Formats: sequence, C-alpha cells, structure tokens
Amino acid sequence: MALRKVFEPLKVGPVLLPNRVVRTAHGGLEMSPRMTDDYIAYHARRGRGGCGLTILGAASVHPSSMLFPFSLFHDAIVDDYRRLMAASEPTGMKVFAQLWHGGNLYPAIDGGPGWAVSDIPGMMGMVGMRMTEGMIQEVIAAYANCAVDARSGGLHGVEVHAAHGYLPQQFLSPFYNDRTDQWGGPLENRIRFLLEVLRAIRAAVGRDLAISVRLAASDMPGGIDIAENQKVLRALEAEGLIDMVNVSRGDYYRMDTMVGAMQNPTGYEVPSSGEIASVASVPRLLAGRYRTLDDAEQLLRSGAADLISMVRAQIADPDLVNKTRAGKALDVRPCIGCNQQRRGGRFGCGP
Ligand SMILES: Cc1cc2nc3c(=O)[nH]c(=O)nc-3n(C[C@H](O)[C@H](O)[C@H](O)COP(=O)(O)O)c2cc1C
Repeated sequence: MALRKVFEPLKVGPVLLPNRVVRTAHGGLEMSPRMTDDYIAYHARRGRGGCGLTILGAASVHPSSMLFPFSLFHDAIVDDYRRLMAASEPTGMKVFAQLWHGGNLYPAIDGGPGWAVSDIPGMMGMVGMRMTEGMIQEVIAAYANCAVDARSGGLHGVEVHAAHGYLPQQFLSPFYNDRTDQWGGPLENRIRFLLEVLRAIRAAVGRDLAISVRLAASDMPGGIDIAENQKVLRALEAEGLIDMVNVSRGDYYRMDTMVGAMQNPTGYEVPSSGEIASVASVPRLLAGRYRTLDDAEQLLRSGAADLISMVRAQIADPDLVNKTRAGKALDVRPCIGCNQQRRGGRFGCGP
C-alpha cells in the first residue's frame, strides 16, 4: 500500500507534528529520581528513528502517589527536561510529558496510602486515603505546576493521564467515586476533578503548550463506560481545554486489554477507543498492537484516528518509521506482543 497519510504533518494545538506516528507513554525507564543519560538517549533514539511524537512515561505530579522513584514535582525537573530536549529537539520529534497521579493504586512517597477519591480498595490491594477538599485543591495545583515546569523545560506539550484507573479516572468512575460532595454523584460532579485539573493547566500555560488527555473505557462491571467517556470528552472540548485526545482501553481490572499481548489482534482497542474518539473534533490518537505503517495507514484512511500509537513496535525497532519510509519495511524487527520489556533487569525488547 502507498503510505501517504502516515507521513502527513499534523497540527496539535501550537505544535506541528512531523508525521502521524506516536510513541504513547510507557514507563519502565524511571528507576532513578533524576532523568538518567539512558532515559534521555532512549527518547532521542526514537526521534532519530523517525517517531513524530513521544509522550514521556507516566510520572507523579505529587508525593501522595508514586509510580517510580522518578517524579515531576522536584526542583531539578526543569534541568532534566532541558537536557532531554537538547538531545531530542534536533531529531524533529515532539515531546510531551504525561502528568500522573495513581490515587488508590500506588502508595505515597513515605509508603503510606495514596491519596484517593474514596476508601474503596484499589486493584493493587491498597485502601487509599479519601481526599479532603484541601487535598483535592493541592493536587489540582500540583498538576498545573508540573505543566508550567514542562513549558520552562522546553517541552511541546503535556498529557493528563485520565485513563487506566488512575486518580482522575477514579473520580470519573461510578464504582470508585462514592462521594456525596461536589466531587461525586452524577457525572457532572464526577467530571469536576478532571475539569478543574485541565482548567488549572490551561490557565497556567495558556496556549503555549499542547494539552492532551488520555481517556479509556473500563472493562470492569460498574466502571466508566464508552458513553460516559464520550460525555467527558465533549465537556472538555466545549471549554477548549484540550488540543488532542488519546484514547486507550481498560485499567488494572484487565491488564490484558490495557496492554494487549499476542492474543489481541491489531486494532483490538478500536471498537472501544474509536467510539469514544468519534465525538471529538480535536486530533484523535488511538493505540492497540499497531506494528506496521501499513496497518497505521489503514486506520488513518478509515477516518477513525488522526494519529497512531506504536509503543512496543518502536521498543522492538526504533528505526521502524525511517526503515519503512526508505522502502525497507522487511528489515524492521517486528514486535510480537510478548510483553517482556524488562527481561534482564534493563528495559528493552527480548533477551
Ligand atoms: C512497558 C509499558 C509501560 C506503559 N506505561 C504507560 C504509561 O506510563 N502511561 C500510559 O498512558 N500508558 C502506558 N502504557 C500503554 C501504552 O501507552 C500503549 O497504550 C500500549 O502499549 C498499547 O500500544 P502498543 O500496542 O503500540 O504497544 C505502557 C505500555 C507498556 C508496554
């Protein structure tokens, strides 16, 4: 198939992406509190291989929930971003940070319970600390501070991770959000946390940075579904709070739909994520075992997406885009979806 759409540039807010191939966020490189040289080299390598946009792995905005030793709320982060951008900017790849808070899934920095929407146990077996009004406001401000730091460090955008069962999605969830105050109950209350986070970010950075949100339907009975995600997306767009939507699928209830392995075919997320994204007028980014630019081109031409995530495919071969563009698609080292990126203690693909 002639590859046409996949190499077309696309404007996302103030940022011109050089092509339609995105490496959506993946963690696994963040084992040190500071950005290591390895971390920086990894991203710059994806840029040299032709990736259009990389979204840095989820990292915490506030010490009340930690995913890795690495976080976004410390003073040195701006220097770290500048080092990263010095290495990756010359490649032409654009870079967003993913702003994350794990709520009831991951503990606080001191090992205590993570701050969460409620005290309903999370899927990692932890009872979070139900947030007070003051705690909610503190975390909202933390998101905005992290966006300001991303701008100071020269990044092109930020993404609020409101999928996969993390704090913003816990607020959205009819199952986890049992609050009776202004943050719980009907969807117009459950959405308030995400709205306030995005309002605070937009107020802090204006239109200088691209703002993305990652959404997903849960596969858990009682979790947030496709129809409510569509309403969320419409509400965010109505206020001009987002420049792009990145729709994934699933949460910790079903890891096998969140990061589908060999049993899932190419595009397995699209029946769910494409339906959510269909109500958007901002650029739509979809994921789900895309391994070749031919497959990506087909999805783009179908009109269901404007951008395609290729995460594990670019772990397997960082030169996927450039090799294919040069007519050497058969030389690409293919991703088989084995989900063994941490073998041998170092992040990578295979043995
Ligand atoms: C090791 C690993 C870590 C991930 N970490 C994140 C993350 O930090 N934030 C996020 O939104 N998605 C994360 N994901 C999900 C990916 O962004 C993507 O949605 C998923 O891998 C499916 O795309 P693919 O089939 O192209 O790999 C992760 C995936 C992998 C494999």
